[in-house]
Amino acid sequence: MKTAIYPGTFDPITYGHLDIIERASRLFDKIIITVAQNPTKSPLLSAEERVELIRKVLVDVDVDATLIVEPFEGLIVDFARKRKADAIIRGLRAISDFEYELQMALVNRRLYPKVSTVFLMPHEKYTYLNSSIVKEVASFGGDIENFVPPLVRETIENIYKQKRKKR
Ligand code: COA
Repeated sequence: MKTAIYPGTFDPITYGHLDIIERASRLFDKIIITVAQNPTKSPLLSAEERVELIRKVLVDVDVDATLIVEPFEGLIVDFARKRKADAIIRGLRAISDFEYELQMALVNRRLYPKVSTVFLMPHEKYTYLNSSIVKEVASFGGDIENFVPPLVRETIENIYKQKRKKR
């Protein structure tokens, strides 16, 4: 039984993240999607909201593995150790991701040598995506239909509608 964790901020989860989860599910038996609180990024959604949204969205995803979604705080390697994870999954979208990801992977390996970082490349149609760009488009009233699942779109668009009304 091989377990992987897929950590991220997921503010919000996008089709690019879902593509990585689908790919990882063909390689691992269990994937724990670990939602970092990440206050440094001042997330739009609380960790609990992100966890709930991901759980709901995953119902429609075609996967071969058991999926678990959990919030986490602290070091990712401590979480990996506690959950006896074999791997940390990270998505590599472009060369620009590589340096930061290499640093994280090497630091994590130093801290906990039993865990390996596995890099997966999302479908090329998602290489330009990140959560910030989705929020930026939505904040100006743009359509995010092609970037996120319908429930995420509805949630994010409603938040920005409320914010615009208050202005
Ligand atoms: N599709 C779409 N977007 C993707 C993507 C994909 N396949 N892969 C990454 N991204 C985007 C994310 O949406 C995110 O966008 P944003 O910056 O606009 O929010 C960005 O790329 C990268 O972020 P993410 O995957 O959320 O990771 P992160 O860099 O914010 O967080 C943690 C990384 C949480 C895993 C890392 O900080 C961590 O492990 N923290 C715990 C503390 C720790 O252990 N630190 C030591 C690490 S060595």
